[in-house]
Amino acid sequence: MIFSDMKPKDLKHPFLWEERRPLIEGRVFYVPDYYQEHHLFTFPIFEDPQIFGNTLPVHLEYCSGNGTWIVEKALSHPDTNWIAVERDFERVRKIVSKAHNENLSNLFVISGEAFTFTKHYVRDHSVERIYVNFPDPWPKEKHLDRRLLQSGFFRLLSTRLDEGGELWLTTDHEEYFGFAMQEARATGLYELIEGPPPPDTLDTKYGQRWQAEGIRINHVVFRMKSRDANPHPRRLEVVEVAHARLDGDLGTVTGFEKQVHEIENGHVVLLDCARSLDRERLRLEVIVDEADLRQEILIEVRETPSGIYVELSSFGRPAVTRGVRRAVVLVADWLAGCGLRKIETVG
Ligand SMILES: C[S@@+](CC[C@H](N)C(=O)[O-])C[C@H]1O[C@@H](n2cnc3c(N)ncnc32)[C@H](O)[C@@H]1O
Repeated sequence: MIFSDMKPKDLKHPFLWEERRPLIEGRVFYVPDYYQEHHLFTFPIFEDPQIFGNTLPVHLEYCSGNGTWIVEKALSHPDTNWIAVERDFERVRKIVSKAHNENLSNLFVISGEAFTFTKHYVRDHSVERIYVNFPDPWPKEKHLDRRLLQSGFFRLLSTRLDEGGELWLTTDHEEYFGFAMQEARATGLYELIEGPPPPDTLDTKYGQRWQAEGIRINHVVFRMKSRDANPHPRRLEVVEVAHARLDGDLGTVTGFEKQVHEIENGHVVLLDCARSLDRERLRLEVIVDEADLRQEILIEVRETPSGIYVELSSFGRPAVTRGVRRAVVLVADWLAGCGLRKIETVG
């Protein structure tokens, strides 16, 4: 819909929670939360006409808030492509309406969470500079893991930044400032350059508020000097599903105890096991946690004339990843430990 004077409320969210999916509509990419099929959606390269349609350098701002800062940047720097990443839809509405009213073609908005967007949709070496202005500090000890600027995120960013790319952090929060520097240093991938905040980084809603209250504002540039050895693939590799066949009497398998197994990039938890009413099947609840994809899957064990099969259930449409395949093999191993005889494992 074209509005001559767009108001924030004119932007309607394009899907209900139950229908959530990655979607590009208007100048917005909607990245759903609690969603497990990012690997099935291809976000175009930034040069694609749907996004910017040119090869200008890309500057990205995480935690854009109401967008005042980035809209001003996009207006005053038409030679740069700007991306605003904001997880709160009410604020996304404000950014989008401002960008629309200024007729900005060099600003694209991501309605979604920073880590999820970066991990699944940002290509390697594609961003020249990142800004984080006044991020939520999450000061309580029990909330520290909600902070955006942690070593895992710095490592991921080192693969997405261009050669010599930088992240500029400006914050009023002394403790988070120290925390972010410590996390970046721990990666060994960045040079840290501390200095007074450039005046234009203070021109945000929160920047103005803290300045007015006389709060000291800190600034540091993290300059990427090398890349993390882990390639942080945008998609988890989808592999052929495994199954296993065993021989013996499923009725002899009576006990079950939760098991936790380390795997490459995460772990598999065999959480619980239930027997069907006809007693011919076992159903195991399993958690597969790998990279940043966590899946709860069901693995079925069923008796057939040609043996006892261990297979992944299609319930919940799991992505068949290396971890999922490993989980099937771990269930077969557990059954073998219970006295059944393994005939074959495929995968
Ligand atoms: C304190 S406000 C600062 C907003 C703006 N940068 C400013 O200075 O006025 C922090 C913003 O970050 C957003 N945010 C927090 N965590 C985020 C995440 N992981 N991904 C995307 N946005 C996030 C919040 O919704 C909020 O709008």
